[in-house]
Amino acid sequence: MVPDYVKKAMDTEICKNCKNVVIGKGNLNADILFVGEAPGRNEDEQGVPFVGAAGKNLDKLLNNVGLSLEDVYIANILKCRPPENRDPLPEEIKAHTPWLLEQIKKIKPRVVCSLGNYATKFFFAKGDVDEMKIQKGITSVHGNVKEIEMEGVRFKLIPLFHPAAIIYKRDLLPLWEKDLETVKKEIKKTVSQKRLF
Ligand code: URA
Repeated sequence: MVPDYVKKAMDTEICKNCKNVVIGKGNLNADILFVGEAPGRNEDEQGVPFVGAAGKNLDKLLNNVGLSLEDVYIANILKCRPPENRDPLPEEIKAHTPWLLEQIKKIKPRVVCSLGNYATKFFFAKGDVDEMKIQKGITSVHGNVKEIEMEGVRFKLIPLFHPAAIIYKRDLLPLWEKDLETVKKEIKKTVSQKRLF
């Protein structure tokens, strides 16, 4: 039986027109979840998130903070590529994020790194897509850790610039590197906290 949250996403035009549905990659038992925006051309071809140029930067990020794919799960707000990589539409976010919420319930992450504006606003709005437009953008909130509870799961949200933005805007690099220190610190805290139980 196909679950309703899958049917809902599959019913959108972008899913009818894409090559592959991109669900996620990594470890479903991980403590750390990364959430991007939507698959790009390479991801659509391969059915795997973050395999293109932005993915190379995400790999560097993971490497830099001492993580591998075994330690994280990586997913997106949209599971299918919007044509010409246009921005996600609110109706698409509404149709696709019940799937992401199911992933959150299953993974129960302790740390969520939101990559870029769409993922960050989704979490700041606690999943209420209509509230996303009144949330602050990534430029003002990047690196600021916030405790969030969604779907009965409490986690630390760390908003990060989208790894693709680092490619186009080199002046973001020092900010990005500083935010990575925050990621390292939070992960260290989370892991040591977990050892107490
Ligand atoms: N950008 C994203 O936000 N997600 C991907 O999977 C690839 C590029």
